[in-house]
Amino acid sequence: MPTDSVTDRRSYLKAVAAGSVVALAGCTDSGGDGGDGGGGDGGDGGDGGDTPTDEAPQIVAGTAPGFPPFEIKEDGELTGFDVELLEAIVAETDYEFGGWKEFEFDALIPSLRDEKIDAIAAAMTITDERDNAIDFSNPYYSADQSIIVRDDGDFDPSDLDDLSGHPIGAQKGTTGENVIQTELIEKNKLDESNYKAYDNYTLAVQDLENGNIDAIVLDEPVGATFADQRSVEVSFIYETGEEYGFGVRKGDSDRQQALNEGLDAVQANGTYEELRNEWFGTN
Ligand code: ARG
Repeated sequence: MPTDSVTDRRSYLKAVAAGSVVALAGCTDSGGDGGDGGGGDGGDGGDGGDTPTDEAPQIVAGTAPGFPPFEIKEDGELTGFDVELLEAIVAETDYEFGGWKEFEFDALIPSLRDEKIDAIAAAMTITDERDNAIDFSNPYYSADQSIIVRDDGDFDPSDLDDLSGHPIGAQKGTTGENVIQTELIEKNKLDESNYKAYDNYTLAVQDLENGNIDAIVLDEPVGATFADQRSVEVSFIYETGEEYGFGVRKGDSDRQQALNEGLDAVQANGTYEELRNEWFGTN
């Protein structure tokens, strides 16, 4: 990170945008990023079998924007808590930050496995199923699910059962979708035809505002952010005790360890808290 105080994230973004934030080619020199490329090559053992080039090893990151405040497009630029946090973490490691690639959420794990990206930073909950397919860093954020509705007050459910008979939505491949499937559809409390799966939550919120669906199940910090910005409100929280981690390829213990050490470093030096305050306020 270029400075020790993030007083204005827009000007910070402008400063780094040209260098790394929207780099898609996968091989920029991330001009504004501050992280040294790791004096001399050969620095990191090179085992693990997937070192992409002979130069400074890179971390190309993938995300799925439309999930405020974790990953968003602002005036065409990718930003958000995850975006700034991962870049700050990588700057603490010997890896060079190789830019961002955007995917739909359910394409992230396949893209990681196919080596289109080296890390996932997408508010991705660490689940047993995902943990079989990829590896995760240590947790960096905790969240429950929330249920949001239009803020006109006509429909105000207070538990999952109240959603019976209503058209509801979630983003494909998410833990919110999983709640709908396991707690409602599989328990015959909701007909499958009443579930609408979206490519991203921004589209779901539009449909909710337009009256095409009556509720959305999504991570609580994101529900709260949409409630601030759009004509929707949180009607209740469904506790799931989820923890987000950064994904790396299975067996890529070098990057996993680097991200864990980088996370420890930004937690110790105050950057983590600064970013949390910046994107979530101080409480
Ligand atoms: N935490 C939830 C999950 O892991 C939702 C994540 C959605 N992230 C996103 N960038 N759209 O399934």
